[in-house]
Amino acid sequence: MSKDYKISSSILSADFTQLGQQISVAEKAGVDWIHVDVMDGHFVPNLTMGPVVIRACRQATQLPIDVHLMIESPENLLEEFARAGSSNLTVHVETCPNLHRTIQTIHELGCKAGVVLNPGTPAVMIEPVLHMIDLLLVMSVNPGYSGQTFLPEILPKLEQLHHMLEKVNPQADLEVDGGIDSETLPLVLKAGANVIVAAHAIFDYPGGIATGIRQLRSLFPH
Ligand code: DX5
Ligand code: ZN
Repeated sequence: MSKDYKISSSILSADFTQLGQQISVAEKAGVDWIHVDVMDGHFVPNLTMGPVVIRACRQATQLPIDVHLMIESPENLLEEFARAGSSNLTVHVETCPNLHRTIQTIHELGCKAGVVLNPGTPAVMIEPVLHMIDLLLVMSVNPGYSGQTFLPEILPKLEQLHHMLEKVNPQADLEVDGGIDSETLPLVLKAGANVIVAAHAIFDYPGGIATGIRQLRSLFPH
């Protein structure tokens, strides 16, 4: 079956002095989701944003808010993130010893459940929960910062996960995050991804946010 191609714009590279305005520009340019990178300074070295910023995004747009939780013990904060207006809550498999329960909780809170794998984590780690997720996110950089270089080593794993997902849960979205630009986007589409996250290639695009989004979208199959 064919799934929709989507762009999830990561606000990590946005100008936070005008976040609402930048989200509006991205929405008007046809972005599909707003990606919010939540980092705790423990699981990843950087410290970023929390429910307060998600609440602000929720007021700025009707688009789905795609929340990427790079935090230890995410289960302690799921309710707060759901209440702030998250649409997708995506947890790292590396942080969740009780993964089935965490996914069930996300569903009970009325959100779509995503799981994410770091570049160094093998595909098999996600196999037990593939049937119950809405979204599988594959990192193509080690998480922590925007503007990093895409790791092509993840492409065989992405392809493997695409085939695994097609067998047990073909409706689930397959998303890729890190170093996506007009050079790397075709590679991840070829490996089976249908959602791409981009921060630098959108919010730092020399021609502006709208042009950056249109440039990425022009590479999707028509
Ligand atoms: C990385 C974050 C990404 C990041 C992507 O840890 O999860 O979402 O913002 O940034 P780019 O697209 O610039 O690699
Ligand atoms: Zn992210």
